[in-house]
Amino acid sequence: MPSSSALTVTLFAALAYGYANPGGCSGECVVYDPTVIIRSSDNTYFRFSTGDEIYYVTASDIAGPWTVVGSMLPDGSSIDLAGNTDLWAPDAHYIDGLYYVYYAVSTFGSQDSAIGLATSETMDLDSWTDHGSVGIVSSSSKDYNAIDPSLIEIDGTYYMQFGSFWDDIYQVEMNSEATAASGSSYNLAYYPDGDHPEEGSYMYQNGDYYYLFYSWGICCDYDVDMPATGQEYHIKVCRSETGTGDFVDADGVACSDGGGTVVLESHGEVYGPGGQGVYDDPTYGSVLYYAYTNTSIGYADDEKQFGWNVIDWSSGWPAV
Ligand SMILES: *[C@@H]1O[C@H](CO)[C@@H](O)[C@H](O)[C@H]1NC(C)=O
Repeated sequence: MPSSSALTVTLFAALAYGYANPGGCSGECVVYDPTVIIRSSDNTYFRFSTGDEIYYVTASDIAGPWTVVGSMLPDGSSIDLAGNTDLWAPDAHYIDGLYYVYYAVSTFGSQDSAIGLATSETMDLDSWTDHGSVGIVSSSSKDYNAIDPSLIEIDGTYYMQFGSFWDDIYQVEMNSEATAASGSSYNLAYYPDGDHPEEGSYMYQNGDYYYLFYSWGICCDYDVDMPATGQEYHIKVCRSETGTGDFVDADGVACSDGGGTVVLESHGEVYGPGGQGVYDDPTYGSVLYYAYTNTSIGYADDEKQFGWNVIDWSSGWPAV
């Protein structure tokens, strides 16, 4: 048992930062842009992430131990763009008996980008079929960058959120199988200043609202070029009753005009958390997961760690 003074110090430290530390992680915990899905047949957790043609790992609990499975698409994507052998930012779903993993093809800082789809019945190694582009494509003539996919079903219709920098976060209606865009894209969130650093969105329904989580700021290369304080990645959120527009933050500021409430930012040994998602854990309830730099481990991109926290929704806004 800790002494009461040790307990007081611990509680005080947690309150001073305002954020809980990440939950435990054992096994393979290095990650970038993770997505988590649980295979219903055996309750195995699957975690996909950027790198090695979407490498993925499995575990029996969100805390691990995580074991490497391999690459989802070892030969890359059939999308004919630079970056098709360096796939990014996976987003996993289960739809009508198939596991879907959307991914992005691009190169750093380029708008020549597209969102693709791979499917599998089991998620086992070598079980994946690549379907190429879902018709969400960008080039320098567009106001958006077609990366960082995130799918949601709203009242029986699928929508894809996507976007990174340029005019930030967009949405497009998808067909009934969620395999192709079926409408025109429109803006959901926009930060008017600087280089509009919003990306990596993830939408999640809770109660009466759809919550649009996204990453704000500079994601990468902290070991090479340290951002000014506050310019590094942090996780923000906006909410809407429809999920298709009118997103506002906790102060009522429109997220199409710079709004956004911070959910998680640098604190203690945690630096630059982002690339987040949310899933329903059978034990813990809603869980926010992300990648972060542990300042005691290192600032390089290939040292980013998998973090997760249980979400407290009691205020109507996600708190960790
Ligand atoms: C950071 O890494 C150190 C060394 O592995 C570990 O002791 C510490 O718990 C980690 N902190 C966080 C917030 O992950």
